Amino acid sequence: MLEASELYASYGRIPVLHGISLTASPDRYLGIIGRNGVGKTTLLRSLIGLMPLTRGEVRLKGMPISDSQTHEIALMGVAYVPENRGVFPSLTVLESLTLAARKPLRSGEEWTLERVFEVFPRLAERRTNRGDQLSGGEQQMLAIGRALLTNPQLLILDEPTEGLAPLIVIQIRKVLRSLRGSGLTIVIVDQNLETVFSIADHVALISRGTVVAEGSTEKMANDHSLLNQYLGV
Ligand SMILES: Nc1ncnc2c1ncn2[C@@H]1O[C@H](COP(=O)(O)OP(=O)(O)OP(=O)(O)O)[C@@H](O)[C@H]1O
Ligand SMILES: [Mg+2]
Repeated sequence: MLEASELYASYGRIPVLHGISLTASPDRYLGIIGRNGVGKTTLLRSLIGLMPLTRGEVRLKGMPISDSQTHEIALMGVAYVPENRGVFPSLTVLESLTLAARKPLRSGEEWTLERVFEVFPRLAERRTNRGDQLSGGEQQMLAIGRALLTNPQLLILDEPTEGLAPLIVIQIRKVLRSLRGSGLTIVIVDQNLETVFSIADHVALISRGTVVAEGSTEKMANDHSLLNQYLGV
């Protein structure tokens, strides 16, 4: 589904990504971990054309997308849930969700408003509330609900459980896990390691713009000296 090879990117003259290669598929959800400021968000943005690459290639379903515009990539079935959630403050929950909805590219199980309200009942309760009246957790549910309503094939999530209350974290993990088997692919970045480990099959550890270690989630989650060395946990 997604193949990134040898990605390089810089902010002005400051290099941020130094030759990162990654893959993700429906049976290989990818988790990306690393300390603050190592380039995780920049990496995700580079996958979807929001950050220009100085070198490297991104392929989606075998097609090169490195030169495509973000909206073209979205139409190819990629949904991005950004770190700041990107919730429109003046739109109601219902308006935001309705605006996002798109038909799936392939036939099969389809995300509808009803289904989003089923997995996030809180959004149904808050349907007439505006974005700026929602709690952080509700905004995150809205951001994920909106992404699902585009009926994506690839869902890219930047810190979906960062700073949220434990019960909401559990609910969001559960919803993301429930997507398995639906043909969707997930790429997830989170500071909350438990979130990444509970969703990803394969984990890449990033430090200073390169992948310093990667492997199955089980292997990475149990490599305590590695996690301690790079994340201080
Ligand atoms: N718009 C920008 N202009 C210049 N430098 C930037 C910009 N955005 C990020 N950086 C720098 O690039 C590096 C990588 O940032 P990035 O946001 O990708 O890291 P991150 O791993 O997502 O961090 P965090 O855990 O804080 O979300 C950091 O040193 C950051 O200060
Ligand atoms: Mg970030």
